[in-house]
Amino acid sequence: MAGSVSPVGEFLGDIDWAMPARTLEPKSLACLSQMGRLAEMVAPAERRAVELLASCADVLHWGQTYTAADFGQHFLDNYGWVELFGTRGHYMNEKVAAGFLVLGPGIEYPDHHHVAEEVYIPLTGGTEWRMGDTPFRERRGGEVIHHASNMNHAMHTGSEPLLALYLWRGGPLAAKSTVTGTVTDGRG
Ligand SMILES: [Fe+2]
Repeated sequence: MAGSVSPVGEFLGDIDWAMPARTLEPKSLACLSQMGRLAEMVAPAERRAVELLASCADVLHWGQTYTAADFGQHFLDNYGWVELFGTRGHYMNEKVAAGFLVLGPGIEYPDHHHVAEEVYIPLTGGTEWRMGDTPFRERRGGEVIHHASNMNHAMHTGSEPLLALYLWRGGPLAAKSTVTGTVTDGRG
């Protein structure tokens, strides 16, 4: 019956794990300075995986969808993602994309949406999330956050950085989000 499978289960069921590798040049970003703290923050069950991510961060191809014209240089210095697999990631997959998002402390990622359906699993707590017009609320590490296609969502980090696993499917997997919010804290 529809609804009996979790969003994560639906995404996993869509993934063909026989993915060819894609050769990507290493590309570093300023936000990687957060990796050490992030590895300290995650739950013990995820610590090994995050330490592995931190140890190979220098050889991964980190990306940014936005420019300084969107949210300002401070945001860019504290934001980045790496696509592990997808239409542009380290392994090729045309149907599902997955990777990690990093945000530094004190960052406002304004309301945005995209056609692709999305699951976020924050691995660190302390960040406030919202979807649609709901109030911001703090999400713990390990929670599953499901954004339906074109559902607006936004995040505010607090005094600590954010590391989140993301999954996208059902839309253009390399699309830039449509931004409807603005940075309001004066740093943008
Ligand atoms: Fe999103």
